[in-house]
Amino acid sequence: MTIEIQLTINGAAHTIAADPRTTLLDALRERLRLTGTKKGCDVGQCGACTVHVNGRRVLSCLTLLASVREQEVRTIEGLGKNGTLHPMQQAFIECDGFQCGYCTPGQIMSAVALLDEPCGPSDDDVRELMSGNVCRCGAYPNIVDAIQQVRGAAVDANSNRAG
Ligand code: FES
Ligand code: FES
Repeated sequence: MTIEIQLTINGAAHTIAADPRTTLLDALRERLRLTGTKKGCDVGQCGACTVHVNGRRVLSCLTLLASVREQEVRTIEGLGKNGTLHPMQQAFIECDGFQCGYCTPGQIMSAVALLDEPCGPSDDDVRELMSGNVCRCGAYPNIVDAIQQVRGAAVDANSNRAG
């Protein structure tokens, strides 16, 4: 049995005919060849598969494709605009926030979503909100640096506007 799902991915409308048990992760990787989203554990424990649904982060391995019908999905491929990296992608490069890179798309998608979440100012606050994203290479300190760099730039921009 297949069902048809309409959804928007990185701004483009898609209709996917799929088994109702298909996960969003498998649809992205196997049907749409959007392989930037990684499959790590496939059971909701590593964060490698993190994408945004309506601007909020979700684990795509635990999300049924059918449950995001008519929703807006964003993957790492849709983060930059017109060939320009998102500031969080740039900060990960500048802060050396990755080694093998396998966890990186999920880390970055979580980090971008975190910018719109209630998060305290300290490194510990960031670590707490990023705790669902595992890095087997141990790049955690540099990942926190990258996120704090982007958050700091946003605060500076706001205070300049206010001043
Ligand atoms: S692949 Fe989804 S949380 Fe690990
Ligand atoms: S950079 Fe290798 S798993 Fe995180």
